[in-house]
Amino acid sequence: MIPLVKPYLPPREELMPELENTLYSGYIAEGEPVYKFERQFANYIGNPNVLALHSGTDALHLALILAGVKEGDEVISTPMTAEPTNTSITMVGAKVVWGDVDVRTGLLDPVSVRSLITSRTKAIMLVHYAGMVCDMDEFNKISQEFNIPIIEDAAHALGSKYNGKFIGSNSPYTIFSLQAIKHMTTVDGGFLTFKEDKQLPRARRMRWFGLDKGKSRLENDITETGYKYAMNNVNATIGLVQMRHIESVVGRYIENGKFYDNALKNIAGLELVPYYNDTEPSYWLYTIKVERREDFIKMMADNNILASPLHHRNDLHSIFAQSKRELPNMDKFYEKLVHIPCGWWVNNEDREYIADVIKKGW
Ligand SMILES: Cc1ncc(COP(=O)(O)O)c(C=O)c1O
Repeated sequence: MIPLVKPYLPPREELMPELENTLYSGYIAEGEPVYKFERQFANYIGNPNVLALHSGTDALHLALILAGVKEGDEVISTPMTAEPTNTSITMVGAKVVWGDVDVRTGLLDPVSVRSLITSRTKAIMLVHYAGMVCDMDEFNKISQEFNIPIIEDAAHALGSKYNGKFIGSNSPYTIFSLQAIKHMTTVDGGFLTFKEDKQLPRARRMRWFGLDKGKSRLENDITETGYKYAMNNVNATIGLVQMRHIESVVGRYIENGKFYDNALKNIAGLELVPYYNDTEPSYWLYTIKVERREDFIKMMADNNILASPLHHRNDLHSIFAQSKRELPNMDKFYEKLVHIPCGWWVNNEDREYIADVIKKGW
């Protein structure tokens, strides 16, 4: 079966000696490898304001706190995502307000978001789902007009671009996940990136119990709640080796995605997803809309190809019962949504085979 997701790890002979060095170095907590990894990732995305954390969920939690979101506030978000995007909003005691999606793309619809803004709206959570970038031209206008910060959840969008630049420096806060099946994995890990450097010192303290790493424990004074969110040197060492492969690995997702953009045009019962102006996806998953989805999934499985919608729409979870509202475009999009294998493990022969199987119909 050709899988839909698969962890990429660098060759054993390259990774293991470096990992062994770190493991037996006598210093495995947050230290120089973490800071070096931050600098290299900063270089890659073209933004120096980067904080390495233990997970993307940690990054979401810190972003919400730093954006000033508190109990009773509202955050407009999307149900079309992995759960941590929205459970993190409940971590700060705020209410999730579901925006509807653009029925063509499944990404948050700026028109819907605009209609939901109230005096309680303290942040807009955008998810670049499956590596496709939201309509940033419109969302930037909304953010400026209402003075509401955007948090970009780019867990799926490492290597995606807006206006020719990598995602990660457009909005006050952007989060990345380095969890097992993402474009780049450190087993677990995450980044929070900031448009400006002003909040970095506070964010650094918050990833380490509220303590200042620049001072000795005895001189430290905790002034606000911090967390155990720091990345450690072991995960960072994996990340440093991964950085040598990032361009070729992400490049392979993009090449495969572009191949499907052409190969799957004009097929009866299949709709391709358009990309917004000035955006370039990094195709973490290849997204299509199909008629009779269950038949499509079965036909693909019969041909040894895994196809699936992957995520459960988040508004159906009981924890979000109070946020429930009609989302007609979400309903229409979700019944047709399916992903097909697109990542680094899909070679030229596989992708030709996948396109041929789909062209035969279901
Ligand atoms: C869209 C999205 N946001 C956030 C996360 C959370 O990332 P992590 O698993 O690194 O905490 C994930 C992945 O699990 C995700 O897919």
